[in-house]
Parts: sequence; C-alpha cells; structure tokens
Amino acid sequence: MDFKDQLKSAVDIVAVIGDYVRLRKASAFSYTGLCPFHSEKTPSFSVHASKQFYHCFGCHAHGDVLKFVMEIEGVSFYEALKSLAERYGISMPKRSHFTDEDSRRREAILQMHVVAQENFRSNLAGAPGETAREYLARRGVGPETAEEFGLGYSDRSGRGLVRLLEREGFAADLIEASGLAGKRPDGSLYDRFRNRLMFPIHNEKGKIIAYGGRALASDDEPKYLNSPETPIYKKSHVLYNLHRAKEAIRKEDRSILVEGYMDAIGVAEAGFGSVVASCGTALTAQQVQTLKRHSQNIVVNFDPDAPGAAAAQRSIDLLLTESMVVRIMELDGGLDPDEYCKQRGPAAYGGRLQNAQGYFYWLADRARARNDIRSPEGVVAVLKSLLPAVQRISDPVERMAVAENLAGYIGVDRGVVLDSFRRSVADRQQRTVETPKELVRADEKGIINVLLSPIRERHELAAELEDCRILEQLATRRIFEAIRAICAAGGELSFETVNARLQDTDQVLLAEVLFSEEIEAQQDLEHGRRCLDSLKRSQQQARRAELKAQVKQAERAGDVREALRLAEELARLEGPRGARA
Ligand code: UTP
Ligand code: MN
Repeated sequence: MDFKDQLKSAVDIVAVIGDYVRLRKASAFSYTGLCPFHSEKTPSFSVHASKQFYHCFGCHAHGDVLKFVMEIEGVSFYEALKSLAERYGISMPKRSHFTDEDSRRREAILQMHVVAQENFRSNLAGAPGETAREYLARRGVGPETAEEFGLGYSDRSGRGLVRLLEREGFAADLIEASGLAGKRPDGSLYDRFRNRLMFPIHNEKGKIIAYGGRALASDDEPKYLNSPETPIYKKSHVLYNLHRAKEAIRKEDRSILVEGYMDAIGVAEAGFGSVVASCGTALTAQQVQTLKRHSQNIVVNFDPDAPGAAAAQRSIDLLLTESMVVRIMELDGGLDPDEYCKQRGPAAYGGRLQNAQGYFYWLADRARARNDIRSPEGVVAVLKSLLPAVQRISDPVERMAVAENLAGYIGVDRGVVLDSFRRSVADRQQRTVETPKELVRADEKGIINVLLSPIRERHELAAELEDCRILEQLATRRIFEAIRAICAAGGELSFETVNARLQDTDQVLLAEVLFSEEIEAQQDLEHGRRCLDSLKRSQQQARRAELKAQVKQAERAGDVREALRLAEELARLEGPRGARA
C-alpha cells in the first residue's frame, strides 16, 4: 500500500466532506447534500460511505476523498494529502518528490503568516501597541475579544516584519510574494502594513492567509489596507470569520452576512456566531457557494446607508441566482451592526434578526418608496421593478405565495399581480425532455456491488462471468466489459479502477447502481452468486417466452419449417443441458 492508499483507508470520506457540505443520511451506506460544485436547490450530491466516493447526479462531479479536497480547496494533490494527514494525525513520508514548486511556495507563504501573526500579536500586547490598545478600548473591544479574533498591531518601523522573515530564512522573492511586504525601486523590501490594527483573515480550515489592516490615525489612507491576492489568497473566494462561524451556521441553519470586519466581530461577540463578512469586495458567486455548503438560508445585514442598500440589492440578485433563501435585516437609528449590538444590546439585535423579512418585502419597500402606488402607473412601475426577482423564483408554488403576499402588501388585487408574474415567467417554462432509461435490475445491481466490494472472493465471482453472454444485453454491459478487462489484465477490482475505464454516461450509471436503494448490505460471494443465477434464469425465461411467441407466429403464418427450427431451439433450452447454455 502506498501512502495515498494508507491515508485513504484511514480517513472517513463522509466526515471529511461533511466538514464542507451539510450531509443527510439517505440510506444504510449513503449521504446526500447540496452539491458544492454547482448551483442547485435540491440535493443531487451523494457520498458513498462504504465505497468511499462522491458523485453528483447534477453536474457529474465525482471522485475520492483526495479529489474532493483538491477541488474544494483548489490545492494540489500533495497539499490535499498533507491536509488530510494533518487532520488525522498521520505523519507524511519525507519524500521530496511529493512536493512540486507551487505547493512549496504556498507552504512557505502560510508559514510566513504564522510568523507575522506572532509578531503582530506581541506588538499589540507590548509597548508598541499602546495606541492600538487604546483604540480598541475606545471601540469597546475587550482584550479577550482581541485575543479570540487574533487581532494584532503592525509597528511603525516599516521593516520589523521583513527583518523577522529574513532572519527566519525566507527568500526575498517569497517574502514579496506573500503580500506582507512591498518592494522599493532599489529592490529592498518594506512592511506592507505599518501602524495599523491587524485583522487576520483565515481560510475555512482556520489557517491565516491574509490580513486587513485598519488605519489608527483618522488621516491615514486607506481606512483599511488589505493583503493583495497571493498564491494562498483569492479575495473572491474568502469570507471573513467563516472558519469560526461555520459550526453555528450549520446548527442554526442560517448565516448572517455583514459588511465589515468590525461588524462581524461585534455581532459574533453579541452571541450571534453565524456571522461572516466579505473582505472589502462586493459579494461573489464563489463566496455564496461556500456559504451554501453550510446552509441555504441567509440574513443580509448591511450598513443602513445608501452604499449599504446598493450592496444589499446587488447581493440579493446574486444570492437568488445561487438559490439561497434570503432575508434582509434592517437596523434603525442609522447604526451599523457593530454599533447596534454595542448600543442596543444583544437582545435588541436578536429581535431584529428574528423579524428579518423575506427579501421580497425589502425590494417592495424600496420600490414603494420610489413610486406612488395610489396611481395605476405607480403600481405598474412597482410590479415591473420586482419582475427580475420574480423570474428567479423557479418554484411555481412559491411564486404564487409571493404574489399573494405582495398583493396585500402594495394594496392591489391579487389577480393583477399574478397576471404580471405569469406573463414574465411564461418564457422560462420550457423543460428538457428526459430520454427513457434502460432499466437496471436488482440482481444486476447486486452483482456489481459484490464485485466492487473489498472481499477477496470478488475475483472468483468475476471469473464466473466469463462464459456469461447475457451480460452483453444489459444496460450495465459496459460496466461488465470494464470489469472483465480489468480481470483479464490481472488488475484489482474496485470502484475506482472500474470507474476510471468508463465514459461519463456509464460513470453516472455506475454511481446510480451503487447508490440504489435496492442494493442490499450483503457483500459476500454467496449473495453475488445468487444474483448471477437469478439473472441467468430470468434471461432464459425471457428467451423461452420469446421463442414460444415466435413458434406460434410461424405456425400462424404456415411456415412449418421455421416453426420446427424454433421449437427445436426451445427444446434445447428447456432440456437438461440447456440450463447452462
Ligand atoms: P466600513 O468602512 O464600513 O468599515 O467598510 P468597518 O468594518 O465598519 O470599520 P469601522 O467600523 O469603520 O472601523 C466595510 C468593509 O469594507 C472594507 C473592509 O473589509 C471593511 O471591513 N474596506 C473598507 C476596505 O477594504 N478598504 C477601505 O478603505 C474601507
Ligand atoms: Mn463600521
């Protein structure tokens, strides 16, 4: 067994994927959830607990636990191995051929962020951090909160960190690539962050990958200076505070989205742990997909100013496109989420959260504020401005409910609303017609399941398929072909070896077979043989029935010779030797 197989046998794919995707047990051996690789509303992503693979019936993403980690984290094979090994406390073999240049660089940059974090935190705790500590105290951020969120301080020297990194032996080009330093025209390096309050930004696993640095002096521009994109930091993929929030998001089945780092900290400290923020950019599809893996429900709580409202409007569009269930939370008194929690207290914030309305009411409010709904033109304008959002509601029942509520809300007849909705969605109704599928029998599934189980006798059963011509007529014939080819080449039978030989449509079929509810837990040779026998028997029965019909037809047509030939064949089948033909 090489290290990869050793690791795979030690990890549980359901536990690993379950960290990223809310999974629900679907059968004795399978789990389902919303696919993290494409946008969907109903789960078509399945994880097979005993065969240790995942398959999405929507977008056909599939693979083993390593492939999953590689895809979801966007990392190399080596890094996926390392990440799993770390999680399960298995030591990696120290062989350099595992590392490619890119993974080595990323690893070094992660390491530099560990060094930076120690530096920023000791600055904040020590003499250089006095003004920063005062600033935090003024904003009501206590030492425990600062500690919990890993806040730090970048000193005024402008080279403290660079010097430290150089002393640790990091090469100059790597230090520059980390985003922690800038380069002067003469080639020398300087600290990117200077005299700033430092907010570490973590990836979903909790490793620091970037920083946001807040100016302490009011005339220092920009207010927040953020790490640039680096090999370990893709702004558009990362949400601030997600690694802490994801537990709560799953438990409460809802996330809260705010705009700023300080808002996320303030709301979390008020007891609402499921809060995340985008990192100084407009919300992106990748960020939404990340959130959706943990819950489909979201409450958007942006700043109560015009830019906040505009950002909320943009976010709604995106969130709906990604099939999220969106509510909007508004705070009174012109307070942002952080200020609100501090001034009004957690109970007041909790009340607002509870009362957060579906996005539709928020949109309707905004439209109503811009138009006079006492006039028919005003009503039409309101309805028109809501249509794009209506078109995103794919469920007709939900659309009906929205129309109903909206009619009451803007005070018009419900027929008027429904009518305008109906017209706008009429052209979206076309459905693709599914081609009928060949049926896969229960015994067919049973054989494949046994053949791909980790029992030693599976190869024995495979040998018994040799003279079995009926397999060629089955829907799963290409799966059996692959199984035979592997055996002929002396290879190991497993889900992976078979899957690797199949084209896309047959890979889907194989996943369907293995996820099928008809499959029994039994995975021994006995069961496999019983399935094979039953398959042979029923094939013969079918052939006999067919022959009988043909005999009758030939007789009716007066073709005696043909009738006799068919009858002879039938007799051969039914005779003592026929059972094995
Ligand atoms: P805000 O200006 O609302 O900041 O920007 P804030 O988080 O509420 O901070 P305080 O309360 O004024 O200290 C919201 C977010 O936009 C990004 C940051 O991520 C910030 O948290 N931002 C803002 C920047 O990236 N750069 C800036 O210059 C300003
Ligand atoms: Mn703020």
